[in-house]
Amino acid sequence: MSRLVVVSNRVPAPGKGKAQAGGLAVALQAALAAKGGLWMGWSGASSGARDPGAMTFREDGPITYALTDLSRKDIDEYYAGFANSTLWPLCHYRLDITDYARKDMAGYFRVNRFFARQLAPNLLLDDLIWIHDYHLIPLAAELRQMGVKNRIGFFLHIPFPPPDVFFALPVHATILAGLSAYDIVGFQTRYDADNFCSCLEREGIGRRVSDDWIKTSSGHFRVGVFPIGIDTAGFERAAQDAEHNPAVRKIARSLVDRDVVIGVDRLDYSKGIPQRFQAFDRFLRDNPAHKGRATLLQVTPKSRSDVPHYLEMQREVAELAGRVNGELATLDWTPIRYVNSSIGHSILAGLYRIARVGLVTPMRDGMNLVAKEYVAAQRPVDPGVLVLSRFAGAAREMDGAILVNPYDTEAVSQAIAQALTLPLEARRERHAAMLDHLRRHDIGAWCGAFLEALREGGQPG
Ligand code: UDP
Ligand code: G6P
Repeated sequence: MSRLVVVSNRVPAPGKGKAQAGGLAVALQAALAAKGGLWMGWSGASSGARDPGAMTFREDGPITYALTDLSRKDIDEYYAGFANSTLWPLCHYRLDITDYARKDMAGYFRVNRFFARQLAPNLLLDDLIWIHDYHLIPLAAELRQMGVKNRIGFFLHIPFPPPDVFFALPVHATILAGLSAYDIVGFQTRYDADNFCSCLEREGIGRRVSDDWIKTSSGHFRVGVFPIGIDTAGFERAAQDAEHNPAVRKIARSLVDRDVVIGVDRLDYSKGIPQRFQAFDRFLRDNPAHKGRATLLQVTPKSRSDVPHYLEMQREVAELAGRVNGELATLDWTPIRYVNSSIGHSILAGLYRIARVGLVTPMRDGMNLVAKEYVAAQRPVDPGVLVLSRFAGAAREMDGAILVNPYDTEAVSQAIAQALTLPLEARRERHAAMLDHLRRHDIGAWCGAFLEALREGGQPG
């Protein structure tokens, strides 16, 4: 069987288990743990003003990690610049904060070429190459130019916006051409795939010849929808085990007699955290019976602090939590418990389980694994309720959730009230349907479906 070679910008530090904030690292860790293979990416470290040296290789169980440092300039232009100040806001429909600088764009293509040069000498002839996310879109084209003939697939973990948004990017045609160099391009939802195809057609780069196939001037490539899953069985087990975890028990004791509403997100403007705090504030004011009882436990590790918009957000969110607490807290009750550190899955699973409501309200999200983890962690006999933004990819699958529009503060406030008062039978019914779906569409199924499509190729229909 051919070896799997995964390439992503973010790679979890080998041996650190599952204490990762970020859906990509969590999902790929689970996928590669089962299949084994080579995982190449950024070490997370800077080589300063000097060019990075050779990649370092580390074995951890079935996975070989191949890690490269990046120079300070690379990190500024490629990671903080084009990837996270241009592509990320653009793909999350935030043209108002999409910055563009030619210097950053050039750095992005330079680092992709550098990744290709590092990777190519380590490839075997029949390796299956699977590249992930918006940081590495041009990588296949770079590898092809170096003569690499292997099958190469790409999966985009974040949304793909419609043409009128995407075309605001000055180099949109080059990015579209970069995606067209893959054998297969995978998206989280049909909506994202359709947006991508509309962009190709409007730009005259490709024509859709069937649901799944695009014809370009140089041939065909495939487009697919592969909604990412979680390690459902592992999460169910972790949540059961967490009942005996002393750290979880201690937190549970501190919340006894409280109705816990949980939010878990990287500190990112796409997650709608300020809007969520406002909705929770509204809920408490409109439903005085819940004052002194309901507590929002918001776990929010800091993220991308070297990008200016993220730094601003850190202050904004902390101030808002302080204001709500300052106005509503009593001597023995804090409405919002706001935690800034990253929490490992063994504890997180326990926190999901004690929460009566999972409040997942991104303004826009590719999938949102937290929504799925919350459901998998519930006790089927007495499950909590998921309140989910209709703008998360997960909303297309989690049909037992209460769906909300996160721009509508009153609607989110009412959904929290509804979730906290939903009768047991209705909760069980909603939960059972979602858990069944998560068991059938777990991370193994996602990985298997993508790799089968990549391996087989197929013919334009
Ligand atoms: N996560 C974690 N610890 C934390 C916060 C988040 O392990 O303190 C994990 C969370 O369990 C989930 C991932 O980070 O697996 C977040 O993925 P999601 O798709 O929800 O959002 P992303 O961060 O990828 O935008
Ligand atoms: C999202 C992106 C990933 C990224 C993660 C964490 O899940 O889709 O590509 O790794 O956020 O962000 P970071 O910038 O810390 O890698």
